[in-house]
Amino acid sequence: MTQKLPVLVTGGAGYIGSHAVLALIDAGWPVAVIDNLTTGFRFAIPEGVAFYEGDIEDSELLARIFAEQGTKAIMHFAGSIIVPESVENPLKYYHNNTAKSRALMDAAVKAGVPHFIFSSTAATYGIPEVSPVTEDSPKAPINPYGTSKLMTEIMLGDVAKAHPFNYCALRYFNVAGADPQARTGQSTAGATHLIKVAVEAALGKRSHVAVFGTDFDTPDGTGVRDYIHVSDLANAHVLALEALIAQPGRSLTMNCGYGKGFSVLDVLDAVDRVTNRTIERRLEGRRAGDPDSLISDNRRIKATLPWQPRYADLPTIVEHALAWERRLTEIRG
Ligand SMILES: NC(=O)c1ccc[n+]([C@@H]2O[C@H](COP(=O)([O-])OP(=O)(O)OC[C@H]3O[C@@H](n4cnc5c(N)ncnc54)[C@H](O)[C@@H]3O)[C@@H](O)[C@H]2O)c1
Repeated sequence: MTQKLPVLVTGGAGYIGSHAVLALIDAGWPVAVIDNLTTGFRFAIPEGVAFYEGDIEDSELLARIFAEQGTKAIMHFAGSIIVPESVENPLKYYHNNTAKSRALMDAAVKAGVPHFIFSSTAATYGIPEVSPVTEDSPKAPINPYGTSKLMTEIMLGDVAKAHPFNYCALRYFNVAGADPQARTGQSTAGATHLIKVAVEAALGKRSHVAVFGTDFDTPDGTGVRDYIHVSDLANAHVLALEALIAQPGRSLTMNCGYGKGFSVLDVLDAVDRVTNRTIERRLEGRRAGDPDSLISDNRRIKATLPWQPRYADLPTIVEHALAWERRLTEIRG
């Protein structure tokens, strides 16, 4: 059995990071969190988890955390994630995602933290020529968000060649859903993720859902995406960490998705069925740079890790997102 080493989760107060914290503590790993709470929430961090409010570029704080916690692995979720904002303000993304990831790696190497898991993204592929997309497909991001993440992957590759350090870059497809026990979920106000927006509309928190583009080269004309349940994704991180510890000389880059696509209308229909309501859909034009279809080829992660998705089912993802949205209403009053 893998020895459970102390893990620092950056961005652990955010959507995906808070699920990773739960997956780690549920499996018995010692966990600490660093988060500057720009888009994360203090309530998302479970009681008993050491929390450091601060920025990942603060090298003194990182050195103190590593010393106090005996950190041996980092799961790095902290970052900025809004694609259109990255087009308007690219330097924010190259600062918060690229430069600060470099600062975090620097602190890790100086302190001898040997394992690093990184939240990468399908946006590193840009508009793929083939779907499903494999990890070896060309990396051609079409926005600064994707480039900021790809640059971090490149740095990780070089650092792993030069230092006793291995990493796993996980390229997420569309992350959705919430903890099955509704302990955490996506809490961002004004989120743009389709399933989050659709359950908000179903609960009357929004008047309608905009459908961006109805002339894509897909069966119903709306964009097709590969939705992965956030708890399955969090679990993949724990398994990836075990793989890094088991083989310190090996680094990994893997897609995280189910390898199955659903259109925007499929998703809205699923939300209607689960809630027994009809969400108002407003058909609008395409947004710049949206591919017709973005589906993962997930053979590599399945061959490399003993990853068994438990919630790979659209109605289950919707039910969990809905339960969290209701819980969030209680929390916020
Ligand atoms: N949500 C998705 O569908 C998706 C898809 C692909 C990749 N990702 C990546 O996953 C990661 C987590 O995304 P999320 O959806 O949970 O976003 P999120 O905004 O909910 O979480 C990000 C967290 O990082 C914190 N943070 C940001 N900058 C920081 C800094 N400089 N120092 C300390 N804390 C900082 C925020 O306060 C927040 O808690 C991101 O790196 C994102 O690029 C997300």
